[in-house]
Amino acid sequence: MSYTFPVTRNPNPKPKPDPNGLAFGKQFTDHMFVMDYDEGQGWHDGKIVPYGDILISPASSVLHYAQMMFEGMKAYKTEDGHIQLFRPEMNARRLNRTNERICMPPMDEELFVSAVKATVKEDADWVPDAPFTSLYIRPFIIADDPALGVKSAQHYRFMIILCPSGPYYAENRGKLSTTRIFVEDEYIRAAHGGTGYAKVGGNYAGSLRASQKAHECGCNDVLWLDAIEHKYIEEVGSSNAFFMIGDEVVTAPLAGTILPGITRDSVLTLLKEWGVPHSERKVSIDEVIDAAKKGELKEAFASGTAAVISPMGLLHYLGEEYTINNREVGALSQKIYDTITGIQTGKIPDTRGWVQRVV
Ligand code: COI
Repeated sequence: MSYTFPVTRNPNPKPKPDPNGLAFGKQFTDHMFVMDYDEGQGWHDGKIVPYGDILISPASSVLHYAQMMFEGMKAYKTEDGHIQLFRPEMNARRLNRTNERICMPPMDEELFVSAVKATVKEDADWVPDAPFTSLYIRPFIIADDPALGVKSAQHYRFMIILCPSGPYYAENRGKLSTTRIFVEDEYIRAAHGGTGYAKVGGNYAGSLRASQKAHECGCNDVLWLDAIEHKYIEEVGSSNAFFMIGDEVVTAPLAGTILPGITRDSVLTLLKEWGVPHSERKVSIDEVIDAAKKGELKEAFASGTAAVISPMGLLHYLGEEYTINNREVGALSQKIYDTITGIQTGKIPDTRGWVQRVV
């Protein structure tokens, strides 16, 4: 099924920001996508309208009980001027897994991808092409019943907003660099049976106190440990975490508490194709710290849509600091970064069907 959406053009387009000074997620384009859901009617009336504030009832359920979800994607400009997306069908699938977890209605994958493409197409001239920049795409759904009973809503709004963005970590402005990571041994991100694998706002609200602690220690982000023993590595900030211990690259298995990252999946695919020994297994913080002490922790990096591949240069754990690879970007991290961004921006041929063209 193919979808088209009416467009109301913004009569007051904004000047485009300087592509070399872009921060992450602070400036927004001229248009946005909005669509309603009503019980009995399904998703309906998708349209593209000028970007702007929305009216919402103060009793709206999302404001009280956080029944909301979001996705994160990017659009990239190729050297020959095309705009493309990276594995958008994976976002559509993940959206539906999240929706199922928080009792929101599913969405046809093609409807989702068509809405993203139509919105990006409308603001195609906002896709930056400076190094380390892209158009960050934020689809999200809010429950919008004006009622204070704790129950799933009957009316929802789906929206897509777009922001021309620079690197997620300021360290990576202009060149790939390393971050300082705080290993959180008190607060947790997710527990089995919870919403860790789902992209819901509450997961991120619950992470803020630990981020604050990380920043107080001069770190960029948090490395999360498991909820039961505070022992096994889960994720880093809002991304997945990879460690190269000896010759093996390890990452936590998707066991309900880990976000199934699309970049994570792409990294695992590349490692397999390149014949790099790797596994999805439980890895304890003690194993990582022991490896760091013995000089066997060769590299570590975060992987995510926003973070892309963000190498870690230091772990701060229980008051001690452990450096990784002399705080330099490792060869494997750099190769993965170059390959993924190369495919995204069309510099490397897409042999896996990962890229979808918008214009
Ligand atoms: C993404 O990588 O798209 C994310 O969702 C991270 C975001 C919370 C900044």
